[in-house]
Amino acid sequence: MVSRLKLINKSFMPKKTLKISSRAINTPLSPIRKFVPLLQLAKKKRLNVFELHIGQPDLKTPSQILNKIKNFNEKIIRYTPSNGIPEVQSAWKKYFKGFNINFNESEIVVTIGGSEAIFFALSAICDPKEEVIVFEPFYTNYNGIGSIVNVKLVPVRTFVKTGFHLPDKKSIERKISKKTKAILICNPSNPTGTVYSKKELQMIVDIANKYNLFILADEVYRELVYDGQKHFSIMDFKKAHNRAVILDSISKRFSACGVRIGCLASKNKDLIAGVTKFAQARLSLPMVEQVAAVPLLLSSKAYTRKIAKEYKKRRDAVYGGLQKIPGVQCLKPKGAFYIIVKLPVKDSEDFTRWLLTKFSYNNQTVMLAPAAGFYATKGLGKDEVRIAFVLSAPKLKQAMYILKIALEQYKE
Ligand SMILES: Cc1ncc(COP(=O)(O)O)c(C=O)c1O
Repeated sequence: MVSRLKLINKSFMPKKTLKISSRAINTPLSPIRKFVPLLQLAKKKRLNVFELHIGQPDLKTPSQILNKIKNFNEKIIRYTPSNGIPEVQSAWKKYFKGFNINFNESEIVVTIGGSEAIFFALSAICDPKEEVIVFEPFYTNYNGIGSIVNVKLVPVRTFVKTGFHLPDKKSIERKISKKTKAILICNPSNPTGTVYSKKELQMIVDIANKYNLFILADEVYRELVYDGQKHFSIMDFKKAHNRAVILDSISKRFSACGVRIGCLASKNKDLIAGVTKFAQARLSLPMVEQVAAVPLLLSSKAYTRKIAKEYKKRRDAVYGGLQKIPGVQCLKPKGAFYIIVKLPVKDSEDFTRWLLTKFSYNNQTVMLAPAAGFYATKGLGKDEVRIAFVLSAPKLKQAMYILKIALEQYKE
């Protein structure tokens, strides 16, 4: 009897090492943040680093937001309703109305940045191991979030030579399986800067209708389009209304990344009911930041028009600089503030590391985001980087010059 008990107890003995989940082990590091320790070392050595790896604009957060934060004078910073305070829901509603997109407050869940909207949407739509179609290269954190919520991203490749526009219907349909639940588009696209045409979006709507799929539309860069392009929202397609989910955020359009206010909006009642439970499970949103987001959401266009002009200047500076570098291939982005660049190197991760640890020109260097992490297909993007044009045009011009010199030296 005693020895049996001993045996049983032994089988419950804790193992020597504490083991974390395979989810935690397998989720990739963000390729954007992976080299930050090297960036810090470079800064310690007093190198001036042009930081082009992350979509952190250098534009000042508008005073309307800062003043709301400075002047906040409630006595208690309380929990707020899980789906957002009514003022901010209503401000999002008015913001969307400015683009002829009609949502009621009840169709809008305020989220902690667009990131939480992505988490909520994937979690509410997919069971573990179900699939979502994405167009690669895509925003790298879709990979991370997909991995955490155990959703498989099924990539459909797009190419630099076609401006990263969508392939034909058949190439997309080929990737649809019994497990496919949604198509995820980012328009304008991070990391390619592609703005999808009405025809392309119509194709997505047709496919989604045919195979009964949700459409997740990440439109956080909605206003940042150049060269007279028109941005079409997925909500411009009536036939998509019950299956469309808008993922949105004030981070980039109001240069307020740290405010962490986004939203998920959809006319699909079941989806909103599901997402509401997730919102309740995470309890509340930051109160002060919600209050701060309201004024600009209510009148966004004066500000966004101004910054769209500024980003166009920056786009031109980066693109002009890249044209002067032998062996570089890229297309002029039509939206957002990123460009995917094919470099004359074998391994852009090695090049990025080298830029931060071995290279400097007049005490300056550049930090890039290696592009492999923007693909789901292994082996793609190895000779590409993503550049975020988030610095002023003169700084970007200088950064591209330094990149040119770096590539010459790296080759040697
Ligand atoms: C396409 C896209 N979607 C969503 C996000 C998430 O942004 P945030 O969580 O700051 O709103 C980002 C941030 O870079 C992005 O580029």
